[in-house]
Amino acid sequence: MAIKHLSPFSLVFLATATFLLAGQTAARILDGDLCRKTDYPPLCKRAVKGSVSDPKLATELAVKALIDQTMGAKALAAKLGKSPKLDNCLTSYDDAIDNLKKSLDNINHKDPGSLMSNLSAVVADYETCDDAFAEAGQRSPLAATNKKSSHMASNCLALGSQIKF
Ligand SMILES: *[C@@H]1O[C@H](CO)[C@@H](O)[C@H](O)[C@H]1NC(C)=O
Repeated sequence: MAIKHLSPFSLVFLATATFLLAGQTAARILDGDLCRKTDYPPLCKRAVKGSVSDPKLATELAVKALIDQTMGAKALAAKLGKSPKLDNCLTSYDDAIDNLKKSLDNINHKDPGSLMSNLSAVVADYETCDDAFAEAGQRSPLAATNKKSSHMASNCLALGSQIKF
């Protein structure tokens, strides 16, 4: 058998490599589990960068990704021009960013109740933007970005609920 010809050093190396590979596989399975419990796993994986098995870190990354996404939505709304409805969206987006920053505080202060409340408020913020257009019988020009943002907010809630405080 070939293994008989391996030096003790090679055997140690082999054992270490096997151990490391098993560890990586375990981490990858955990990752999958975190995002599998969300409603939008591909969006979740992109936000947590596919390399996180810790729910606290994953939630923080998902919240930060949504802050970036919302900043992008603000820039898009500003480019669409000036109107009371678009102003309403800008206000909602600022509110969402504010609530997302609060949710990072909630994680640091180990306050799961406030975390869930602040993240739920974020989901509502994107709906508020679309609602003003819907009430006027118009299609929201920000519908696509709001849909993506709501999905990301839903994922933040699902990830946040997996933190062991
Ligand atoms: C959101 O978090 C803040 C702390 O940053 C807290 O004071 C506030 O009560 C939370 N909001 C809700 C609705 O729980």
